[in-house]
Amino acid sequence: MPKIFVVGSYNTGLTIRVPRMPALGESLVGDSFDMGPGGKGSNQAIGAARLGADVRLLVCLGDDIFAENALRLYRREGIAIDLVHQLAGASSGIGFVNIVPSGENWITVDLGANLQMTPQHARDCAAEIGDCDILMTQLEIPIETAAAALRLGKESGATTILNPAPAQPVKREQLADVDILTPNASEARILLGLPPDDPSPPRDLAQRLLGLGVDCVVITLGGDGALIADGVGTTRIPAVSIQVVDVTGAGDSFNAALAVSLGEGLALQDAVQFAVRAGAYTALHLGVIDGLPTRADLKDLGRES
Ligand code: RIB
Repeated sequence: MPKIFVVGSYNTGLTIRVPRMPALGESLVGDSFDMGPGGKGSNQAIGAARLGADVRLLVCLGDDIFAENALRLYRREGIAIDLVHQLAGASSGIGFVNIVPSGENWITVDLGANLQMTPQHARDCAAEIGDCDILMTQLEIPIETAAAALRLGKESGATTILNPAPAQPVKREQLADVDILTPNASEARILLGLPPDDPSPPRDLAQRLLGLGVDCVVITLGGDGALIADGVGTTRIPAVSIQVVDVTGAGDSFNAALAVSLGEGLALQDAVQFAVRAGAYTALHLGVIDGLPTRADLKDLGRES
């Protein structure tokens, strides 16, 4: 059972389906409202636990009703809550998720308590991080905190994964302790300081990210699968063909499965194949938590690794 330490966010997702993206200033009627747990760190932790990993989660919540929901979720999913901080006077993170008929989304977040997670919060977990196989983090917490966690993971010999979402331009030194960087294509562009719709192909983006000193870049490409790039070359992993319902959380599911497979000792290419299947499973479901697969769920979706 791989040991995975996740340093990340919790947000409550307020989701509706909309017929299209609204124009600026327009009020648009949607439907299918759902309020459910989300946040990239929390989703990735639950995803990894469902796939059988021994997961520890460092996360900051507010002292509101949303935090109570999060604690209930962690108890139900068997995730220890000793590193779940409830910060007095803070609001828990909130995400507004709009889903268009193609299953694609756009998300806006107020990160609330997530932004109060400091590098010291991570350093206070040095012993637990020292015991993990994989250290995984994202950017819904301050980048200094993510960097501190990655440093602790690296120092202890863990494999470190940074899912750089939401993306922001990064400096070389902020990636110094990242073994595997897992942006989607638009995040890759933003990391490099390019416009999100820059036409550079993923292969070029990956090479430029490797140039920032990361050992390995895995770019998730939705319906086109994923691209792995490292010092040796690039490999394209094909997508699983599905009818997309909602892509929300598919990236989190991908990262969770990648971490679990690598923690189990799979080769990177096999781990990415498994992760692509996990992400596809999530995209078949409306909402995030219901779409995070167990291993049994993935048996019916292509080849079980
Ligand atoms: O990756 C999807 C997640 O991003 C959602 O759960 C939303 O809360 C945002 O944090």
